[in-house]
Amino acid sequence: MENLKQFLVALSAAAAAGIVSIIFVLIWVLNYKEGFAWDGGLAEFNWHPVLIVIGFIFFQGIAIIVYRLPWTWQCSKLMMKFIHAGLHLLAFILAVIAMVAVFDFHNAAKIPNMYSLHSWLGLTALILFCLQLVLGVGIYLIPVTPASWRAVFMPLHVYGGLLLFTSVIAVALMGITEKLIFGLSNPKYKDSPPEAIFVNVLGVLLVVFGALILWIATRTSWKRPSDQVLHTLHTIGEGEDSSKVGPVMSQLSDGTDAAPFGDVRRRSSNKLDDQAN
Ligand code: HEM
Ligand code: HEM
Repeated sequence: MENLKQFLVALSAAAAAGIVSIIFVLIWVLNYKEGFAWDGGLAEFNWHPVLIVIGFIFFQGIAIIVYRLPWTWQCSKLMMKFIHAGLHLLAFILAVIAMVAVFDFHNAAKIPNMYSLHSWLGLTALILFCLQLVLGVGIYLIPVTPASWRAVFMPLHVYGGLLLFTSVIAVALMGITEKLIFGLSNPKYKDSPPEAIFVNVLGVLLVVFGALILWIATRTSWKRPSDQVLHTLHTIGEGEDSSKVGPVMSQLSDGTDAAPFGDVRRRSSNKLDDQAN
């Protein structure tokens, strides 16, 4: 992998920001709030932020970059697809439980449903996430879909996935602000009590986590090697320096002598299916 050190720094920073966010949301709920219960009260609401941060943000972020981990590159693409899809499914299940918790709490406390921008965008994101999951399974896991469809749909899949991930973090930031404004009365949010500062930091950590995941997911040079080859051939076709083929060829040739350029082209087309598009 090109710039392995930089990749490891970005990955470790992302993992640290994600794990510290989870610790922060747990401390918020257990130390500053009412803890956990399933009784229609505030302790039931608390499942909402916790499951969102763990499931919909952390697991979704990891699912997005799972193809980029160099130590998984010996695994088959099919296996990686199952891991990618499985982590997204887990994120979805936890997000659904988080929604049930907040709706149940609202109904028990006779608070109206779906009045806030947070709730509108949040529910929309969840529904679109479900659609992305169903289309992802239908197009990339079920073997009957033609390779050409897979290729055509891929840019939309990647764009949709990154947009959803970013939106979920934005929605969480709105939720955090709402909860602090509603929940803090004496002293108020504007008086900056320790809880407010602490939870503001949680919001900053979620932004840092999101920014690092987006950075990792958008570096072309950190893609799985079979995908890099096609990208390299494509950019060479557009007149880029052909010396860039070198490292890619050596990755493909399993450590044996570098194969001639035509061979790379043949092998990469053999890999079209694996590449999955
Ligand atoms: C409701 C907080 C993340 C979806 C609420 C409410 C609060 C809240 C205080 C009740 C007020 C209202 O209806 O706006 C939080 C916190 C979050 C978070 C602190 C993160 C740490 C999310 C995320 C989503 C989401 C990421 C979806 C992507 C919803 C929905 C409701 C809601 C759909 C409406 C429930 C109803 O109308 O009964 N949230 N939220 N929330 N939240 Fe969140
Ligand atoms: C790639 C998001 C579900 C198959 C990606 C990428 C994102 C993404 C952001 C780009 C990653 C990268 O460039 O390294 C999502 C989201 C999903 C979802 C948010 C669920 C809501 C699925 C499912 C499948 C799937 C169920 C079925 C196997 C793929 C494949 C790639 C991909 C094959 C190409 C990876 C590569 O670059 O080689 N997905 N995905 N996705 N996803 Fe998904």
